[in-house]
Amino acid sequence: MRIVVGVCGGIAAYKVVGVIRTLVLQGHDVHVIPTDEALRFIGAPTLEAISRNPIATDLFDGVAEVKHVALGQSADVILIAPATANTIAKLATGLSDNLLTNSVLASTAPLVIAPAMHTEMWQNPATQHNVATLVDRGAHIVWPESGQLTGSDVGVGRLAEPEVIVDAVTAATGPKDLAGKTVVVTAGGTREPIDPVRFIGNRSSGRQGVALAEAARDRGADVVLIGANLEVPPPIGIEFAPVSTVAELRDAVVSRATGADIIVMAAAVSDYRPVNVAETKMKKDAVGDAVSIDLTANPDILAELGAQQHPRPVLVGFAAETEADADALAALGAGKLERKNADLIAVNRVDEGRGFGAADNEALIVASGGRIVATVDGSKRVVADAILDAALEVQR
Ligand code: C5P
Repeated sequence: MRIVVGVCGGIAAYKVVGVIRTLVLQGHDVHVIPTDEALRFIGAPTLEAISRNPIATDLFDGVAEVKHVALGQSADVILIAPATANTIAKLATGLSDNLLTNSVLASTAPLVIAPAMHTEMWQNPATQHNVATLVDRGAHIVWPESGQLTGSDVGVGRLAEPEVIVDAVTAATGPKDLAGKTVVVTAGGTREPIDPVRFIGNRSSGRQGVALAEAARDRGADVVLIGANLEVPPPIGIEFAPVSTVAELRDAVVSRATGADIIVMAAAVSDYRPVNVAETKMKKDAVGDAVSIDLTANPDILAELGAQQHPRPVLVGFAAETEADADALAALGAGKLERKNADLIAVNRVDEGRGFGAADNEALIVASGGRIVATVDGSKRVVADAILDAALEVQR
């Protein structure tokens, strides 16, 4: 592929060298357009050596070959990383005062934008509005991460890691094989109240479900994300329904199940809830040293959907297990699939650095009879795409 990489003037520009290198090593023809400000942070020789192509900077260079439009027209995909608030604003309004913004305006290729800036600039309503405008027009945003910024401050605004940006470029140019389909995804972890301040919850961050929603959206689906207490923001460009308890999650899923083609139940759902929810905070002096809370079973939403008559949506469930052995994991998945009458179960191995809260995941995708359809190990996005591939296969 011919990839145009726009680099803006932000300190994160140095991280983009790793992205360009990976794209080149994957065999792509990479052409870098740094803004003048980007060249104050990173040298032209670095970008030329790493991209193995001369960089293009000046709008008035190569006028004879109409370079201000030629680069954009010939691109298969344009990546802008880091994208500053300034360049995002220009793109949202269609301004074209440098070679990069001219190239974007002259291009019909997918546009991938990886913003990086200080938290206040990112959260400013102007920036958020501009980002939403670009998403509406079909741009793919690689969401900035939370963490240490350039100074001593910590917050959202860090450029996503190079491998996440590379995955986004691959995804943006990938197939639209879910066009015309509706995909419902549940994500996060439910909370069952004990009293006004306490709840029974779990460690699910919602990252895998959010990655599924993003992947389905990028593949052309209409996506409904039902999110229970997500630790990460829901993606733009989808319908988002926030919930908290299992009862709320159930109502949200059941009301959207009609008309759905695929339902992926990635949420960690509490099997039990307290029989009585205290109206006021339970006080230690009143309850004493030993407390027991009566629990009652929650409805099993996946089993309820699985009990529906065919034709029904393709149903994908999740199982988080701690067994290390693939055969044991597959057997657990097969049992769950049968009990709930699901079509696929994604069995996650949960341990340190994998599963809950982590960026990466490892999953076995099990179909009926315990058949292992895929074994995936990678980012949650890679796992998400493998699950959607398998769900599409069931639909065929
Ligand atoms: O039974 P278990 O909790 O292990 O099953 C996990 C799968 O079933 C997940 O896909 C989860 O979203 C779903 N589930 C459900 N309703 C419940 C419990 C789990 O839909 N009450």
